[in-house]
Amino acid sequence: MSDRYQGFTSSPVGKLLVKNLGLPDPTRLERYTAGAPLVDGTVVVGGAGRLAESLSGVLDVLGIASTTQFDAEQQYKGLVLDATGIKDSTQLHALRDFFSPKLRSLATCPRVVVLGTPPEQVSGAERVAQRALEGFTRSLGKEIGRGGTVQLVYVAEGAEGATTSTLAFLLSPKSAYVSGQVIRIGAHGTTTAGEVADWTLPLAGRIALVTGASRGIGEQIARVLHRDGATVVGVDVPQLADDLQTLMKELGGDWLALDITAKDAPQRIAHHLAEKHGGVDVVVHNAGITRDKKLANMAEDKWDSVIAVNLTAPERITRELLDQKVINDNGSVVGVASIAGIAGNVGQTNYAASKAGVIGLVDSLADELTDGITINAVAPGFIITQMTAAVPFATREVGQRLNAMAQGGLPVDVAETIAWYASPGSSAVNGNVVRVCGQMMLGA
Ligand SMILES: NC(=O)c1ccc[n+]([C@@H]2O[C@H](COP(=O)([O-])OP(=O)(O)OC[C@H]3O[C@@H](n4cnc5c(N)ncnc54)[C@H](O)[C@@H]3O)[C@@H](O)[C@H]2O)c1
Repeated sequence: MSDRYQGFTSSPVGKLLVKNLGLPDPTRLERYTAGAPLVDGTVVVGGAGRLAESLSGVLDVLGIASTTQFDAEQQYKGLVLDATGIKDSTQLHALRDFFSPKLRSLATCPRVVVLGTPPEQVSGAERVAQRALEGFTRSLGKEIGRGGTVQLVYVAEGAEGATTSTLAFLLSPKSAYVSGQVIRIGAHGTTTAGEVADWTLPLAGRIALVTGASRGIGEQIARVLHRDGATVVGVDVPQLADDLQTLMKELGGDWLALDITAKDAPQRIAHHLAEKHGGVDVVVHNAGITRDKKLANMAEDKWDSVIAVNLTAPERITRELLDQKVINDNGSVVGVASIAGIAGNVGQTNYAASKAGVIGLVDSLADELTDGITINAVAPGFIITQMTAAVPFATREVGQRLNAMAQGGLPVDVAETIAWYASPGSSAVNGNVVRVCGQMMLGA
């Protein structure tokens, strides 16, 4: 499944038409290949706050070249500003001072990260100024172009040592289709990061459950978690058992063919993980369905099945795994929500309710979980899969272009985001919902 418009814009005729008619011209996004360095170039770091001093050391651990000395003659792959030192609105000019002279010196698919303090942790003028960072980063995300991404990371007091896994993700091509996001580190639960012995295999020794693993986004999640060192236990409906088995054998994983809405599914999953694997470290609730109809025409079974698969099953499975203590310490639960759950969508009252509910599950558990277990969600935008191939051509074209990158994302973009959450290095990343949507205009 490819983006035919993007193929057309890179042909000689396409290039001419794009130029003369001012059509959208999506940049071919760089994506991570196993074994490649995380960043192909140098990152300029700056700012004066709680994090500035340690930044170069953090990037060093990841093998990322960095400098504090900007040279307008050079090209750079990324910019990181520690804005935690900004205490009132007059000091926001530090944003202009740092970024404006450097934006013309960026290579293609550049990465920009602004680090701040969660506004809810400070008060008065500092709270105002820290909140202002959000408007700045979201706007720069829409301006930067050429496949660039811009994120704001709020680092709680005390979580200064827990930024490595997040910077590895946000500065690398792993975050190709994630932009304009606000991420919180250490704002819920633990403020410390777990040990990562080898940053090329961050999930080594981890057991990962992935529902809906036999195709689409779930298949890519299984592949990426396996690439990062995890043993994957795939779940899918019995009708897809052959596909599931073939994939899991290829990945050296394990499988369980069952319908996650079955009454005994949570118990069977918990029992299987406890007996065969001694527990689970990563739980990815990816299985999902759509049954679109406007509410006036919505049959009861369409409503019920969507809520059951997308929301009630993840709730019940999570609860059972927690109650039976099957999730190991420092484990990670990840929900797959959707932009529809944030912005709403015609014909998707059932789906959007279920996906907003997944965000509710994150909110309800983030402060309740103990033993270093985290819960986060991804909210994909337009991802090119069998699900979206079924969307009529015109709607699909509009859906794909209505974002800062003027293109749809790939299943691997969702998978990479989940792998970041799943890393033991992300144990202070809790209670987040990150959109994987190329900074879609809808619900922005
Ligand atoms: N494709 C997109 O653009 C997009 C956008 C936003 C969110 N999402 C979400 O991403 C997830 C994956 O979507 P996809 O596009 O890969 O869809 P898909 O239809 O290709 O794959 C979904 C998988 O879930 C499995 N599944 C469905 N019901 C199940 C059940 N009762 N028990 C066990 N397995 C079940 C299916 O068999 C299938 O393998 C879903 O939660 C979806 O809502 C997708």
